[in-house]
Amino acid sequence: MTSLSRTITISILFIILKTSFRPCFIVSSNSTPIPTPWPHQFHSILFMNYSGSLQIIDLWYDWPNGRNFNIIQDQLGKLLYDLEWNNGTSFFYTLDSNKECRTAQIEVGILRPDWLDGAKYLGQRHVDGFLCNVWVKVDFIWYYEDIVTKRPVHWAFYTGREAHVMTFEVGATLEDAKWQAPVYCFDHRNEAAGLTRQSLFE
Ligand SMILES: *[C@@H]1O[C@H](CO)[C@@H](O)[C@H](O)[C@H]1NC(C)=O
Ligand SMILES: *[C@@H]1O[C@H](CO)[C@@H](O)[C@H](O)[C@H]1NC(C)=O
Repeated sequence: MTSLSRTITISILFIILKTSFRPCFIVSSNSTPIPTPWPHQFHSILFMNYSGSLQIIDLWYDWPNGRNFNIIQDQLGKLLYDLEWNNGTSFFYTLDSNKECRTAQIEVGILRPDWLDGAKYLGQRHVDGFLCNVWVKVDFIWYYEDIVTKRPVHWAFYTGREAHVMTFEVGATLEDAKWQAPVYCFDHRNEAAGLTRQSLFE
């Protein structure tokens, strides 16, 4: 072999090596974790803490039926029902003798199962005793998902409001009769436009 052909052979080998290694780099950059989409139906009990004000939220997410329910118990306080429909109508009411109800028309419907798409990956952190992947969505919500089970563990809003996910029952549904806002929601004196979502996005 002449020295020129040796140089060419080595160059070709290099090119082959470089080209065949490239897919590895592509694979590694694709392996940035992405958040698991929400199951289309689930029930979750959330322990909420907003600067020391505590709440338990019963969350019923029901995408196929276009509805989402937050039943919010303030510590030693009010039990508030926040019923959201995908057409943008939300009802906030109590079921006690006060018969309170507010309705709101919101431009966006309920959260889509893939609402975390495009969130920025921040790495792994321990939260609530679980090792989690963490993402931030538009500097609005920090979302922590268990790296093993892929279940949500915790989320936190830019306001400081925090949700600790206590249960996560995939496929659980609330019976239809419970999704009926009370009759006093339908007298139109209570209408208030422009309210924001009480539930996840307060
Ligand atoms: C709630 O959050 C505050 C910080 O805002 C913290 O000091 C407090 O310990 C938390 N309470 C509970 C019960 O987690
Ligand atoms: C949206 O759907 C709910 C439940 O069916 C209904 O009560 C409400 O009136 C609807 N809102 C609009 C604007 O159609």
